[in-house]
Amino acid sequence: MGQGGIDPIETASRDEITALQRERLAWSLRHAYDNVAHYKAAFTAAGVHPDDFRELSDLAKFPFTTKQDLRANYPFGMFAVPRERIVRIHASSGTTGKPTVVGYTREDLDVWASVVARSIHAAGGRPGMILHNAYGYGLFTGGLGLHDGAQRLGCSVVPVSGGMTERQVQLINDFRPDIISVTPSYMLAILDEFRRQGLDPRESSLKVGMFGAEPWTNAMRREMEAGFAMDAVDIYGLSEVMGPGVASECVETKDGPHIWEDHFYPEVIDPNTGAVLADGAPGELVFTTLTKLGMPVIRYRTRDLTRLLPGTARSMRRMEKITGRSDDMLVIRGVNLFPSQIEEQLLRSDILTGHYQIEVTRTGRMDEVTVHVEARPEALDLALLRAEAAQAEARIKHRVGLTTTVAIEPPGTIERSLGKARRVIDRRPKA
Ligand code: DLL
Repeated sequence: MGQGGIDPIETASRDEITALQRERLAWSLRHAYDNVAHYKAAFTAAGVHPDDFRELSDLAKFPFTTKQDLRANYPFGMFAVPRERIVRIHASSGTTGKPTVVGYTREDLDVWASVVARSIHAAGGRPGMILHNAYGYGLFTGGLGLHDGAQRLGCSVVPVSGGMTERQVQLINDFRPDIISVTPSYMLAILDEFRRQGLDPRESSLKVGMFGAEPWTNAMRREMEAGFAMDAVDIYGLSEVMGPGVASECVETKDGPHIWEDHFYPEVIDPNTGAVLADGAPGELVFTTLTKLGMPVIRYRTRDLTRLLPGTARSMRRMEKITGRSDDMLVIRGVNLFPSQIEEQLLRSDILTGHYQIEVTRTGRMDEVTVHVEARPEALDLALLRAEAAQAEARIKHRVGLTTTVAIEPPGTIERSLGKARRVIDRRPKA
């Protein structure tokens, strides 16, 4: 599996895929119920038992799992095997409270490496290629997740991690990697550094970028592809379910990540009622793990908003490129706003860049939105910059329905992140 070819299940018939899912779901529900006190209690409280699962649609009877449940069982209460069988622990920091802890057995790490290898292969990666991995190493799953998968595929991995942007560029020049894996916001910083050093990024060896861990738009894809003369594909995942490689895009279609449905069962629900929605309808993505031993999750609410779409380059279903998380949705004067909607409009300009931050303030009872964005360093004409800001304001007003002030900032002044970018600064008093 994942040894440089396409796994047969990736192109199997839907019947074969659903038969496998049914069998694995029955196992996973029982495994969680038998070995995790939280699931036994939650199933019992909901009046369901693993024996009630016969058809895929029966999954809807089982209760959801939330980040809150993971926090309440901090640190190791969600493990389904004795702690000694856990060979790796990761954790996500979160902005408040205790981190969310996840644990993997040797078998889980093996599955994880195989789905990441599959993702790299789908992106156009092949054994023997060099992969420059600029996702952060450590408790974050990005670094080690891509690392193990790339090694499994047979790539030469350069474990650079995030940061030291000058050196990133030097290593790309000297080692000549084919693939880079990094958050899209940090890739922009690398792009700037190429130009700062007087190097043409289009002349770099990079052919494929695997971008994820944060939302990014198709406008950003065009920016990267033009900047580096490369293919930019979307890789999705979350630590609670596994890490990177829960879903990933195929380079030949670039039409949203295919979910690796033989290991992760997706549902899309109405975030308010919890009702399961039909494929194609937008809502919150929910995952149940099908093969995880160390820490199975049942109907985990991701807070990510998307819809399920039919397979194209693979038989497995796709998820639409994520526009945002329900946590990141801003409500401004009654209008719902995701940072990605602003990004889309900013990048329609040839002069503005993807370095932006949205500041929300309140004067009296009025919410005010200022979009801070950097212009390209070569754009120096003040009148032109002013006109560009006015045009961006007009596009945002027209397309998103919101009055904003677009403030063009000098190059290099907007906070850079080594991993996930902070797109919103909300200065409104907390209710
Ligand atoms: O970000 C895992 C990952 C690492 C994915 C590297 C891809 C590449 P967490 O830190 O647990 O795990 O954060 C998970 O990040 O619920 C989404 O909100 C967001 N996210 C991840 N990938 C994408 C993506 C990693 N491709 C959370 N597009 C998820 C949009 C993404 N959002």
